[in-house]
Amino acid sequence: MSTSQETVTFARDNLAEAYTIGGNPEKTATFYSSWSKGDNYDQHLNPNLYRGPEIAAQAVADFFPSSKRGDAHILDVAAGTGFVAENLKKHGFMRFDALDASEGMLQKARQKGLYDNYICCYLDTNKLPILEDTYDCAVTSGGMGEGHIPYNSLDQLVRVVKPGGLVCIVMREEFVNHSQYKDLLEPYMTRLEKEGHWQKVSRTVVEKYVLEHNGVVYKFKVLPGQNKTE
Ligand SMILES: C[S@@+](CC[C@H](N)C(=O)[O-])C[C@H]1O[C@@H](n2cnc3c(N)ncnc32)[C@H](O)[C@@H]1O
Repeated sequence: MSTSQETVTFARDNLAEAYTIGGNPEKTATFYSSWSKGDNYDQHLNPNLYRGPEIAAQAVADFFPSSKRGDAHILDVAAGTGFVAENLKKHGFMRFDALDASEGMLQKARQKGLYDNYICCYLDTNKLPILEDTYDCAVTSGGMGEGHIPYNSLDQLVRVVKPGGLVCIVMREEFVNHSQYKDLLEPYMTRLEKEGHWQKVSRTVVEKYVLEHNGVVYKFKVLPGQNKTE
């Protein structure tokens, strides 16, 4: 199915606005809640233009053998209206919780009945309201960018994922060396590895993650708990 030029323009303009808001959790949440109205977000970021959720689901599926997928407990971080869970379901995953800063986005996800729990929360350096070692996987697509998930909150994902579990981050490649992550995100990921919190499984660049922009897919395996950060 083709996408109209008008939809492409809406997608481009809204993404530009979403990712330039600049480090303010309330503004980010308010912006997305307004974008989610009607079916605007879902229509603008349809799979023709935004492949991130499909890419994230494939990356998670590649990590879990099909026999384990039905039981795998997954935290969809910056879940939005539920695109990642929709794609994970196609691979046989069934148990999802959604975490997102925007109540409006979560409300849309609720209408689809995709998740067991909806956690309205801005992921930052504060402790998430989730017990440690709760999930087999934490995954995000589109959650990283200016005004979105801070680089130094990733240890919170390590904390809530069980040893042996997966943290999978899918984001725009150009953001890695840009905006709030420049010279910070990948060094922080390396630091978590050096300190024994997680082990890098892969870092893969993918074409056309969103519109004409490449994406990068990070996969980290969480290591046993005595090294978890608090
Ligand atoms: C581009 S959307 C991606 C949503 C969904 N993952 C998808 O692929 O459609 C980004 C989402 O991240 C959420 N978000 C941004 N920063 C966040 C943070 N620090 N903690 C939790 N959610 C955040 C926004 O509310 C928004 O729903």
